[in-house]
Amino acid sequence: MLPVEVILNKRNGKVLDSEEIEFFIDGYVNGSILDYQAAALLMAIFFRGMTDEETADLTMTMVNSGDRVDLSAIEGIKVDKHSTGGVGDTTTLVLAPLVAAAGLPVAKMSGRGLGHTGGTLDKLESIPGVRVDLTQEEFIRQVREIGIAVIGQTGKLAPADKKLYALRDVTGTIDSIPLIATSIMSKKIAAGSDAILLDVKMGNGAFMKNEEDARELARLMVNIGSLVDRKVMAVLTNMDQPLGSHIGNTLEVKEAIEILRGEHVGSPLYEVSLTLGGYLVFMGEAASSYEEGRQLLEKLLQEGKGKEKFRQLIEAQGGNPEVVDDTSLLPQARQEVEILSRKAGFVTSFDTHKIGMASLILGAGRAKKGDKIDPAVGMVVKKRIGDEVERGEPLATIYGNDTGKIKLATEMFLEAIEIKNEEPDIPPLIIGTVKQDKLIMRL
Ligand code: URA
Ligand code: CA
Repeated sequence: MLPVEVILNKRNGKVLDSEEIEFFIDGYVNGSILDYQAAALLMAIFFRGMTDEETADLTMTMVNSGDRVDLSAIEGIKVDKHSTGGVGDTTTLVLAPLVAAAGLPVAKMSGRGLGHTGGTLDKLESIPGVRVDLTQEEFIRQVREIGIAVIGQTGKLAPADKKLYALRDVTGTIDSIPLIATSIMSKKIAAGSDAILLDVKMGNGAFMKNEEDARELARLMVNIGSLVDRKVMAVLTNMDQPLGSHIGNTLEVKEAIEILRGEHVGSPLYEVSLTLGGYLVFMGEAASSYEEGRQLLEKLLQEGKGKEKFRQLIEAQGGNPEVVDDTSLLPQARQEVEILSRKAGFVTSFDTHKIGMASLILGAGRAKKGDKIDPAVGMVVKKRIGDEVERGEPLATIYGNDTGKIKLATEMFLEAIEIKNEEPDIPPLIIGTVKQDKLIMRL
């Protein structure tokens, strides 16, 4: 087989078989197939698409390109959750302790912030002392002892994805649904859990801007799960405005802690966290239905069990557990500036991507790989779509350590929020679920 034959087959619209996919991906990872050939294949996939079977073959070839995490030493059904990325998206910090408190083992590998989106690892590390670089042995031991551990990727999980992602990034082939689906699913499957819950974000702060694309991505990832024998389901959630009101690393930790203490009941972050958590508990068979799973988590939350589990997690990973009772122990920014509304009306929309970028500029994210983040900075948004505002009323508070950056972020925020006279429609928070029988239902 020659690499060019595989490229030509895809270019001409043929379906690749598993041998062609393995030959090409293995060759690319070991260096016998070159970047320009892989770039040509990616572009052909971008235009021609892939069948579900091709994406399943590509996913497993990418999984087999590296290590797989072996969680068999941990008893019980291991559940994992993945978000396609958003702004103020702190659901893991809320639901992981609650799900662990419900008795399900949480062996979580999380990521860092990417572009305008935040990452769970950066948020956890903003708690003084917390480390996320546990060895594989420490990771497993901690899950066995306290039921929860959150770490960065260890070993070489799906190295084919790493190499392909870097190539996609510079060849205009990121936003292909089959390529996104295989990229996400290969890493999740290599991470070793039995059941995977996907939070597919939809809206102007997400990868998927519209419902049609979000549903197709969700459907495809769930179907890849069926084809490779993994329990997978997806929840589609709105990202046309930040999910939590707090954006920035310690600020998001603070909001998660407040929810675990019983505050913000019914807020969007609370709602999405408990919805995802309820499905996780159901998928992990600690409840016989989603409704029962959710009720269990609400009860544990009220009893303070999630807060206690979060305290144990922080302590086990070297952090100061007292932050759970006193969030002023978290790093604080030196400056706090209120952004006041320049007009009266209704909040009709947010440019959520821009809000994420404003937070990045303050120092909450990285402009390039390896940049250091400032844990304390970010913003708290006080209004949501549909809220009425008066002229001069606070729209947000910026937390910063640099006057020039605060000024820039303030301007960006004011550009990103739209205030008009007409009352807008409020976008639904949870759009639907995609389950393995391919049935799409509205909640
Ligand atoms: N997230 C991933 O992990 N991969 C993609 O291709 C897109 C988003
Ligand atoms: Ca084969």
